[in-house]
Amino acid sequence: MLGNSKAGASQVQRPTAPVPAQAVRFTTPVVETPGIFILTGWLWRFLRLLVLLPVQFPVSVAVVAVSIAAYVLTGWLGLAVMWTVVDLGLLVWWRRWPDSFKARVALRALAAWRWLWVYRRHWQPVLVVSGLAESYLERQYLPQIRGVSCSAWADRVRVRLVAGTAPADFENRVAELAHGFGAPSCRVEVRGPRDVVLEFPRRDTLADPIEALPVPDEPDLSGLPVGRCEDGEPWYLRLHGTHVLTVGVTGAGKGSVLWSAIRAMTAAIHAGTVQVWAIDPKRMELSFGRALFARYADAADEAVELLEAAVAAMQERAERYAGRQRVHVPSTRDPFVVVVLDEVAFLTAYHPDRDIRRRAENAIATLTSQGRSVGFCVLAALQDPRKEVLNLRNLFPDKIALRLDEASQVDMVLGEGARDRGANAHLIDPDLPGVAFVKLEGSPVPVRVRAAFVSDDDIDAMAGEPAVAGVGD
Ligand SMILES: Nc1ncnc2c1ncn2[C@@H]1O[C@H](COP(=O)(O)OP(=O)(O)OP(=O)(O)O)[C@@H](O)[C@H]1O
Ligand SMILES: [Mg+2]
Repeated sequence: MLGNSKAGASQVQRPTAPVPAQAVRFTTPVVETPGIFILTGWLWRFLRLLVLLPVQFPVSVAVVAVSIAAYVLTGWLGLAVMWTVVDLGLLVWWRRWPDSFKARVALRALAAWRWLWVYRRHWQPVLVVSGLAESYLERQYLPQIRGVSCSAWADRVRVRLVAGTAPADFENRVAELAHGFGAPSCRVEVRGPRDVVLEFPRRDTLADPIEALPVPDEPDLSGLPVGRCEDGEPWYLRLHGTHVLTVGVTGAGKGSVLWSAIRAMTAAIHAGTVQVWAIDPKRMELSFGRALFARYADAADEAVELLEAAVAAMQERAERYAGRQRVHVPSTRDPFVVVVLDEVAFLTAYHPDRDIRRRAENAIATLTSQGRSVGFCVLAALQDPRKEVLNLRNLFPDKIALRLDEASQVDMVLGEGARDRGANAHLIDPDLPGVAFVKLEGSPVPVRVRAAFVSDDDIDAMAGEPAVAGVGD
């Protein structure tokens, strides 16, 4: 082949006569743009800047017009008095109704400033360098900022994409965008095929620990309050109808997730409609609240027996329900059973006895694959999410990624593409235990959350009343 192509090349090569240097010299005629065009261009850009300002253009014009009128009618003194009165008015508004002031004035002014100074100024360079725009020369291929709004903690930049690009392009560049605009992170919300919102936090709202949350009188098992989301909203964790795996390195705060979930169910535990069966191989986490648990085990053989008892109770219930009932409703007769399993790998991977490992894995697999609809849930904690440690991780529909060791572990926990969408669980600050990334129902975008911290005193208070005896006892 190579020989042929060489031969072909030699066939088409023809000797060419040398071209005199003068014959190939081209000169570009210099055409000077008339000054009027340059001036009009600058004026147009200035007007467009004013019109696009997020703080309404009419307000800016009115402020300038009133100031000029005050100066013309009353001179400098009148202007100074007018502005002093306006400033005092704003001050009173801020002191008296801080929320309304922040919502209406401060945040709008901040949005205008951030739009001008951060996003508009750096938009093109950041997008080009991060690979989201082709080049400096082709402005028509640059995604456009449609508006910037500010909440108390984050900037939201609404962007119109260029035809032919996908929101996923932005989702895959969140790290570059966050660095480019000097934000700790970036989250992409897709509103439509060419309409995305980039959310850039200005400060970390989860920097301070969250105290144990109030115990709900009537716990909603499809959304238990266990902490707070980055936007200040409560973080609700579903347990009924699912299984939850909490993953994080040692000290990441797995205990606070487990205890916050148990705490939120305290009233139902005392009422007997919820039972917690707890396994604590390290004897350091769940043993504090033994009085709350219907069943408890720490030694490996007892733990496996507990798991097998849960499987038997689940199968007995499934048999009773067969053909009669498709949905489990928690009651004192058929309570919702949550098997809380701290450091699940101790039973499935690290225990020296092969038989224990096999039995534990079988029981967990049966519970997670069949327990959902009959009111059995497994809430497990794990340090290392690799397959060789827990190959059952895909049987847990819901997962929580606390601080992880490696970037590659993020997608193992939260599913493919989670890290690209901003779930940087491997970058969580070790000084922020309880901070995690989760996927909330109905959205593929990971959300940063922090679990509330349940202290030993809180646990003592929760365990005030004795728990109801276990199913299958
Ligand atoms: N949500 C939280 N808010 C504030 N501090 C927390 C939170 N969770 C945990 N901590 C602090 O971090 C320490 C370690 O947390 P925890 O024992 O829950 O980690 P862990 O992930 O269970 O670790 P291990 O795998 O070693 O058991 C706790 O003693 C507590 O001081
Ligand atoms: Mg722990």
